[in-house]
Amino acid sequence: MADPHSQPTDADLGLRLTLLNAALASKVVNVRRYTRHALLAQGACHDTMKAVFGLHARDEQDHALRLADRIQQLGGRPDFNVGGLMSRGDIHDEDGRTLVELLRENLAAERVAIETYRDLLPSFAGKDPVTRRLLEELLAEEEAHASALLALLER
Ligand SMILES: [Fe+2]
Repeated sequence: MADPHSQPTDADLGLRLTLLNAALASKVVNVRRYTRHALLAQGACHDTMKAVFGLHARDEQDHALRLADRIQQLGGRPDFNVGGLMSRGDIHDEDGRTLVELLRENLAAERVAIETYRDLLPSFAGKDPVTRRLLEELLAEEEAHASALLALLER
């Protein structure tokens, strides 16, 4: 006989899809921010910054696709509406900002992402091992992003 506790209720699934869509929205914001910052880091002396920001933009795009794929697999609809997040985290006057300021902003965003994934994991542990593994993989990549940015800040 099926264990009724092993089957997600619609409410459980709806909550998990909402959490995954929030994570997806933050990925889209990160793609935009890293892409803008890669463009700001022009010039030979900033090649390393440009390369790192560009690489992170591509990684964040990959994360967004993997999250959107998983949302679809779970029967949800990926939501790319990031209006609320844009007003908080994506609109800055870029003029006059130093590369150190850009690095600090990205490091802060990575740390928020790391905390977000850590907070999300208990909602999937024991209920959805596929999504849990995905979130653990994305968490590890965000930790690598934060380490790379911290290394640049400490140079
Ligand atoms: Fe990241």
